[in-house]
Amino acid sequence: MNWLGRTLEAEVGPVAHGGHCVSRVDGRVVFVRHALPGEVVLAEVTEDKGGSYCRADAVKVLEPAPERVEPPCPVAAECGGCDWQHATHDFQRELKSRVVAEQLSRLAGIEWPVTVEALPGGPLGWRSRVRLIAGKDGRAGLRAHHSHRVVPLDGCPIAVPGALDAVLSRRWRPDTEVEVTADGDGRTHVRELSVVRGKRRARQLAGGTAVQNAAGRDWKFDAHGFWQVHPAAAGMFAQVVGEWAGASSDALVWDLYAGVGLFASVLAGQVGPGGEVVAIESGRRAVADGEVALADLPQLSWRCGRVEHVLRDLPGRPEVVVLDPPRSGAGRAVVESIVERAPARIVYVACDPAALARDVATFTGGGYRLERLRAFDAFPMTHHVECIALLSR
Ligand SMILES: C[S@@+](CC[C@H](N)C(=O)[O-])C[C@H]1O[C@@H](n2cnc3c(N)ncnc32)[C@H](O)[C@@H]1O
Repeated sequence: MNWLGRTLEAEVGPVAHGGHCVSRVDGRVVFVRHALPGEVVLAEVTEDKGGSYCRADAVKVLEPAPERVEPPCPVAAECGGCDWQHATHDFQRELKSRVVAEQLSRLAGIEWPVTVEALPGGPLGWRSRVRLIAGKDGRAGLRAHHSHRVVPLDGCPIAVPGALDAVLSRRWRPDTEVEVTADGDGRTHVRELSVVRGKRRARQLAGGTAVQNAAGRDWKFDAHGFWQVHPAAAGMFAQVVGEWAGASSDALVWDLYAGVGLFASVLAGQVGPGGEVVAIESGRRAVADGEVALADLPQLSWRCGRVEHVLRDLPGRPEVVVLDPPRSGAGRAVVESIVERAPARIVYVACDPAALARDVATFTGGGYRLERLRAFDAFPMTHHVECIALLSR
C-alpha cells in the first residue's frame, strides 16, 4: 500500500511529538503537518513507506480551528524550520504542554499537568543560531521538512533581526553550509562548511568568539559551540537549575554535559571554596573556553570526555547531579551510573521530552521520584520545547 501523492480528507486528532497531529484514514494513522486538532483538512501524502502510517501535509483547510492564524512567514508551509506558525503563540504552548504530558504518561507512566511557559521577547526574532544551506542556484535557505530540497530565504522572521542579512544577500557554492550566530553583544559570527575534494572544510568568515552575559558573569567562547539559542534561555535555565540544585556549602556536585560551564558556575557558587564541582564535557574547545571563563573558581574541575566513560572511574558520592544531555538523552547506562551513586537530588535539563521521559522512567525504576517540572517555550514557532525536571530519592 502506498498513498504517496494522494490527497486525503482528514479529521485532525491530537497533537503528537514532532510537530504534527494524528488522524486516521481508512484504518491507517496519518501524521498531518500544518493542521491543528479538531480541524478538517485536505492533506497530501508526502511520505509513505507502507505499513501502518504515512505522513501528509495539509494543503487546504476545510474547517479551521479557532486557534488558526495566518503564518507571519511567507514560506512557513514549505520550509522545515518551523512547525506551528499557523497557530497562535498561546496555542503553540498549549500544544507543547500536551506533548510533554503525553510523553511522560506514555513513556514514564507519570501523569503530570504541564504548562509550557513563554520566555521574554515574543515568538519572533529570537533565534540566535541558524545553519543555512545553499541550493543549486547558490541562494542560502533551509531544507524542506524531511527532504533535501532547499527552500531559499529572503529573510527569517524567527531569526535575530539583521543576523542573516549578509548571508542571504549573496550567492554561495551549491551545498555549502553556512552557520550564523548572533551573540549577546549584537555581533554576528559566520562560518562556512563545505566539502572540498572529499574533505570537510570549515572557514570562519566573520567573528569567531561569541560574548554572552548570563548567571551573573561574562562568557567568551567559540561562537559555533553550544549556547542556548534563545537569548533569554541561558539566564532562566541557570536560575531554575540553581534554585532546584540547592547544593550545600562544601558539597560535591557533578555537572554532566557541561558545555562551557553555565550551570557549573552557579553550582560552584553554592558549594563555595570548600566544596567541589566536577564538570564533564566531551567538546575540547568547550572545556578550554570553560576553564578560562571560570578560572576564578578553584572548586571547579573539568573532565574532558564522554560522560558514559568518565563516570565509570569518577570517585565520590555527589549530593546533586545536574545533567543536560543532547537530544538523544543520557540513556540507560548513564542514568544507572548516576543512580548507583545515590545523589539526593538530580536536576535534568532536557531539549527532547521523549528522551526526558525515557530517562525519568529509568530514574524512577531506580528509586527516584519526579518532584518538579518546568517547561519553557525556548523555540517558538517550532515543535521544540525545553524541560527542567527535579528528581529526588
Ligand atoms: C545541551 S548542551 C548543554 C551545555 C550546557 N549545560 C549549557 O547549558 O550551556 C550538551 C553538551 O553536551 C556535550 N556532549 C554531547 N554528548 C556528550 C557526551 N556523551 N559526553 C559528554 N558531553 C557530551 C555537547 O558537546 C554539549 O556541549
